[in-house]
Amino acid sequence: MIKISDNEFRRLVTFVKKNYGINLSQKRNLIEGRLGNIITGKGYSEFSDYLDYVFSEKGTDEMVNMVNKLTTNHTFFMRESSHFDFFRQTVLPYLKNSKNNYDLRLWSAGCSSGEEAYTLAMIIDDFFSGSTEPWEKTMLATDISTIMLNKAEDGIYEQSSVLKMPKSFQTKYFQPYGNGQFKVVQSIRQKIVFKKFNLMTEIFPFKKKFDVIFCRNVMIYFDKETKDALLKKFFNSIEDGGYLFIGQAESITRSSTGFTYVMPSIYRKV
Ligand SMILES: C[S@@+](CC[C@H](N)C(=O)[O-])C[C@H]1O[C@@H](n2cnc3c(N)ncnc32)[C@H](O)[C@@H]1O
Repeated sequence: MIKISDNEFRRLVTFVKKNYGINLSQKRNLIEGRLGNIITGKGYSEFSDYLDYVFSEKGTDEMVNMVNKLTTNHTFFMRESSHFDFFRQTVLPYLKNSKNNYDLRLWSAGCSSGEEAYTLAMIIDDFFSGSTEPWEKTMLATDISTIMLNKAEDGIYEQSSVLKMPKSFQTKYFQPYGNGQFKVVQSIRQKIVFKKFNLMTEIFPFKKKFDVIFCRNVMIYFDKETKDALLKKFFNSIEDGGYLFIGQAESITRSSTGFTYVMPSIYRKV
């Protein structure tokens, strides 16, 4: 397998950290494993030739490909399910009672193949079923991986993934799609806007603030400085009283971000 030299490794690690926040400094094997075949397949014999190409003006498409390869996208329906219990039992009733404008705005930041966003959209749909109030429910789901975003938009999943959902959701929100696969029903798919968005973007372009942001298992790949900068942007993008969910293996330094601790991995802007 093609090996990456120290210089090439530093060059790539620095680039990825600066542009995408992801810290690959301990991931030499991962880089060689995930990029090695592409590089030889494209006829290069050294990482530096490939990197020269990717970083050149002509390499824009290959950059997308490289980012797709270097991101870690593991996710599943109902992941860290106690978050969804809290969301349904505490967050949604709070929003329902406090939002006089009937405008609900959520963001799944680092959504990977969409399971997190769909889980939320289904819980919201179920929660508001029977309500006669004119609720607008906007769900934005973003990632830097185009492969994952395409999969998310398709909304087609293996039966083994769908089985992680409650039985009632399996029947209400998924349709058989053949070959043991299931597709999320149109009424839920149309509620989510999947978009390519880099969380390293300095100024977030969103016109309105979000009531809830899920950014779970994304910042684990960031260093403290990058994470703190992102948390400040999240803080400024959340409504007063709004909630931030992070991965259950993650934590944040409250003092540097402004968020108030609710319980492990759940924070609030109050
Ligand atoms: C492990 S997945 C987490 C998926 C889901 N949130 C969950 O907890 O199951 C992490 C996702 O973060 C995305 N990601 C990493 N760096 C990012 C960045 N700078 N901007 C946007 N997304 C990023 C990756 O592409 C990947 O799909």
